[in-house]
Amino acid sequence: MSPHVLEVHTRSAQVSRILIAPGLLSSLDAIVAEACPGASRLVVVSSPQVWGLHGAAVRHGLGVADREEFAPVLVPDGEKAKTMATLGRIHDALVVRGIDRKAVLVVVGGGVIGDMAGFAAASYLRGIRLVHVPTTVVAQTDSAIGGKVGVNHRLGKNLLGAFHQPALVAVDPTVLTTLSRRELRAGLYEVVKYGVIASPSLFTRCAETMDALLDGSPSALLPVITDCCAIKADVVTKDEREDGLRRILNFGHTIGHALEAVTNYRLLRHGEAVAYGMKAASAIAVARGTWSATEHAELVRLLDHMGPLPAIGGLDVDAILAATRRDKKVVAGTLHFVLPTRIGDTTIATDVDEPQVRVGLAEIGLA
Ligand SMILES: NC(=O)c1ccc[n+]([C@@H]2O[C@H](COP(=O)([O-])OP(=O)(O)OC[C@H]3O[C@@H](n4cnc5c(N)ncnc54)[C@H](O)[C@@H]3O)[C@@H](O)[C@H]2O)c1
Ligand SMILES: [Zn+2]
Repeated sequence: MSPHVLEVHTRSAQVSRILIAPGLLSSLDAIVAEACPGASRLVVVSSPQVWGLHGAAVRHGLGVADREEFAPVLVPDGEKAKTMATLGRIHDALVVRGIDRKAVLVVVGGGVIGDMAGFAAASYLRGIRLVHVPTTVVAQTDSAIGGKVGVNHRLGKNLLGAFHQPALVAVDPTVLTTLSRRELRAGLYEVVKYGVIASPSLFTRCAETMDALLDGSPSALLPVITDCCAIKADVVTKDEREDGLRRILNFGHTIGHALEAVTNYRLLRHGEAVAYGMKAASAIAVARGTWSATEHAELVRLLDHMGPLPAIGGLDVDAILAATRRDKKVVAGTLHFVLPTRIGDTTIATDVDEPQVRVGLAEIGLA
């Protein structure tokens, strides 16, 4: 099967190519060579967990299965490990191995490892070429595309980073079969988000095939992942630096981020917080009269069908309201809310007041 090819065009990189196909890992050496001509060598960065599951396939795909000296740089993943300290370990390995400017960093993993190793590629020798091999739904549909790389600061998420467009994003949906059900579902909430913000047909496909998607069926996942990549590629091509259009990707994230923050990033997976955030934001849209109650009900029905979200009943509403005001999306003191106007289209509201936010929170049981 020849891969689906998408391109991201930005000022900072000529073109960044996304290839999507089941089994793509097996031809990694050829596609990396084509995307990164003249590479002096490849350095692979991954986590022990991901490498344990998919390292053999990646080694095979890169044609180094029988070269014992070929060793990846392995660092821990998960949000707690997304720090300057872990980034420093990647830098150390690059320096010790004498990696030069013509080398290519290939990162294999979820969004955490992708953002972190991407930042290492952006900063080492002022930038070496980067290839993403994303292994979670979040990474395949979102974090590996668009060039945002970085780590967390002790006082806030993703506060340290850069834009560094990958030369190639190699998406192989078969790697998702090893994800836990919860991790898979958390990623699928963001897939639903793409449908609501940009594509009625994707939304309908999600509704029609959700059970197969939740089972991790690669044939069900392939078309929806391809749609999400196409939407993200298009948005980033039009607005790399999030001056305008790219903000629509934050649908569900204003309240979602606040929920993550007040629960210390422990209770909810990011996608689960976004699911709550989408329910809340869309209730705000209905209350403001800019979205139909019928479509809102359709979204809620789909999210509820996906399974129960972790209970958040007892959370402190005032703390959540305060956290929304600290969000990175606050520009010059104005809170930005992405609100649907119909399935497939949104508007950005800068005048959502506190009573309206409370309406949104009431929708998710927080009153
Ligand atoms: N750069 C961007 O534009 C962007 C966009 C969205 C999210 N992000 C970032 O992405 C991160 C979240 O990414 P994530 O949800 O992928 O989390 P993650 O990278 O922490 O991965 C989640 C877990 O899944 C495991 N895992 C990864 N691939 C696996 C596989 N194939 N099988 C089994 N287990 C596997 C990992 O070891 C980890 O424990 C956040 O830090 C977020 O800030 C960045
Ligand atoms: Zn998100």
